[in-house]
Amino acid sequence: RAALHEQTERQLQRLTALRAIDAAISASLDLRITLNVLLDQLMSQLNVDAAAVLLLNPTLQRLAFAAGRGFKTKGPELSELRLGEGYAGRAALERKTVSVRSLPEAPGFTRAKLFAGENVVAYFAVPLISKGVVSGVLEVFHRSPMTPHPDWLDFLETLAGQAAIAVENASLFTSLQKSNVELALAYDATIAGWSHALDMRDRETEGHTLRVTEVAERLAKAMGIGGAELAHFRRGALLHDIGKMGVPDSILLKPGPLTEDEWKVMRLHPQLAYDMLAPIAHLRSALDIPYCHHEKWDGTGYPRGLKGEEIPLAARIFAVVDVWDALRSDRPYRAAWPEDDAREYICQQGSRHFDPKVMEAFLKVTSDG
Ligand code: C2E
Ligand code: SIN
Ligand code: SIN
Ligand code: FE
Ligand code: FE
Repeated sequence: RAALHEQTERQLQRLTALRAIDAAISASLDLRITLNVLLDQLMSQLNVDAAAVLLLNPTLQRLAFAAGRGFKTKGPELSELRLGEGYAGRAALERKTVSVRSLPEAPGFTRAKLFAGENVVAYFAVPLISKGVVSGVLEVFHRSPMTPHPDWLDFLETLAGQAAIAVENASLFTSLQKSNVELALAYDATIAGWSHALDMRDRETEGHTLRVTEVAERLAKAMGIGGAELAHFRRGALLHDIGKMGVPDSILLKPGPLTEDEWKVMRLHPQLAYDMLAPIAHLRSALDIPYCHHEKWDGTGYPRGLKGEEIPLAARIFAVVDVWDALRSDRPYRAAWPEDDAREYICQQGSRHFDPKVMEAFLKVTSDG
């Protein structure tokens, strides 16, 4: 009965250990933290003197030390093996547990020098395999001979399975993170390209949109917009007139005033921008400016005739800078206005075209230089 009790107790402890490791795997995407939790549980449940995890670099086909417990020297941390080299390398290559009764007498222990100060005797190497892919090796060392029970070996292999899952999770996350960053960069490069192409079409001189975007960003920051919101703001500003892609040259580049019908087409450009950008998830939060930059504070703007704070703040901020820059620039339909006239006009439009608070902030931001 005593033996049965002891065995039940041990089973329970091992289950608890597995639960703790599972919890670590789901709580942390930092592989080192998870492996350290796993090795702590291993040391206490399997009563061994030392343990290590070697991870496989699939490009180099080499195993290298990633985490360890119970070593007295730094030597084991320098472990690095080719796939197939030494006992750990064989475990990984042949995908099976390798055990050595006595390392000092074993011819295949290629790391004998690194382990000179460790006096290890018994050794086990278990491959880490998840979804058929080998990602490393779990190693266990004991400083005296041992004859483990099959339960002990089962548990060791279960731990190796968990280590493999931890490695898989972490690398999934890392590659997801990496592709997200790459995707974001690719998007921003695409946006910059579109924006430049748009400028080339109807701007008398290059770089308008970039300049407007920079001034508008400064104003946005001064009004408390930051972080991710500012990144969306920037994208929206760069793309604010993307809807003009749908306006024909005969209207966009017309040297004189527009007819009623031509205005109808021109005034579609914010809605066209919405239709183009709304299906792009990455740009949905950047829509406020392209869609709402021609709304006016007093409700007389387009496309929806929004009024006051119904107009998204980003668009209220952007509109001031957009008009200011448009006035100071040559347009196909008129020459540039002098700077003072442009400022004067902006001042007059507080509470008509523009949010008076934004207008105040704009005057401050642009007079500071
Ligand atoms: P845009 O030239 O970039 O002008 C942007 C906004 O700045 C205009 O939006 C307007 O609010 C302001 N703005 C620009 N120039 C003037 C100006 O000379 N006087 C005043 N008071 N405000 C000005 P808006 O009016 O909704 O125009 C949207 C776009 O329609 C313009 O972008 C331009 O591409 C086009 N557009 C506007 N008026 C004419 C025109 O007389 N002839 C032609 N060919 N296109 C025009
Ligand atoms: C517009 O902003 O869409 C009109 C012209 C312009 O805003 O550049
Ligand atoms: C600019 O003037 O280029 C920016 C504003 C706009 O075009 O809408
Ligand atoms: Fe516009
Ligand atoms: Fe514009």
